[in-house]
Amino acid sequence: MLPTIEWQDDAVVMVDQRRLPAAEVWVRCRTAPEVARAIKTMVIRGAPAIGVAAAMGIALAMRRSAATGTKQFATEFQKTCDLMAGTRPTAVNLFWAIERMKRTFALAVQAGASVAEIRNRLEADARAIHDEDVESCRAIGRVGAAFVPDGARVLTHCNAGALATAGYGTALGVIRAAVEAGKRVSVVADETRPFLQGARLTAWELVRDGIDTTVICDNMAGALMRQGLIDLVVVGADRIAANGDFANKIGTYSVAVLAKAHAIPFYVAAPLSTIDLATADGAGIPIEERPHREVTHVGAARLTPEGAAIRNPAFDVTPHDLVAAIFTERGACTAPFADSLRAVAGAR
Ligand code: MRU
Repeated sequence: MLPTIEWQDDAVVMVDQRRLPAAEVWVRCRTAPEVARAIKTMVIRGAPAIGVAAAMGIALAMRRSAATGTKQFATEFQKTCDLMAGTRPTAVNLFWAIERMKRTFALAVQAGASVAEIRNRLEADARAIHDEDVESCRAIGRVGAAFVPDGARVLTHCNAGALATAGYGTALGVIRAAVEAGKRVSVVADETRPFLQGARLTAWELVRDGIDTTVICDNMAGALMRQGLIDLVVVGADRIAANGDFANKIGTYSVAVLAKAHAIPFYVAAPLSTIDLATADGAGIPIEERPHREVTHVGAARLTPEGAAIRNPAFDVTPHDLVAAIFTERGACTAPFADSLRAVAGAR
């Protein structure tokens, strides 16, 4: 399985997703600011992977800390948590992972642990967050695969694959699990402007796995649906509100509207760490606005004239009434989502 991110001795190592598929380059982050920068600049991206990176970045900072007393150690810990929290605002997995690390820290302090022991516990928890994410993805895959008929032509948007998680993927996990169950599945991957996660990353992962993959430009999805060439849609999520509204890569909402118009089932695949019961509905989800250069340029080439205003919201919100089911590691949630999401995520 493709390792998206690994803890190696004194460093957090991740494949540079900005360079794929042209080059497989590994980035070694030795400090928390390096990890934070990697998240912000999308060396690593995808909601669960961002959470894993933040947890490892925090553990790394505390391993390198020169503090001898718990007071100084706690101050540095809090500063590192704040640094990670300032990287990307939409994926709730980031904040979930930071909160989990804070709980681990607090429990260790309460138990009278030494600085060295707290360090070890933080590192162990960061590794556990990584490993649990892979297990969650495999469980989500098994749940979702039951909804994928043999011969299905599946459209996906962005990259919710091994690269976006600790491994295996959420939406791509569903596809992988269906294939592993012996079903014939072909995938249509939206290119996903402007960062091209679909064209570059989803296609790269699926081709490596030998899964039949066709890349389309984002504006082709409707035409394919109208021609009867898509049987279902499955996407990932960055944050699912208590009522089932969810944020995902910009363009997801358009795909959901198109799916509804063509009576094509639209599914979301996400771990419990993506469910945010504290946010009532989609209106409360913060949407990241990214640098304009991602829209104005492809590589070094400028596409747009100087003087044109630019928008670059990285995510949109899809209302829950467009969603047929949300696949989690604890089963498939269906409407009413306020009840089904609380049932799986209420007692975490
Ligand atoms: O901006 P990105 O590439 O981090 O956005 C990623 C997505 O929108 C994914 O679909 C989402 O994080 C789910 S990943 C399992």
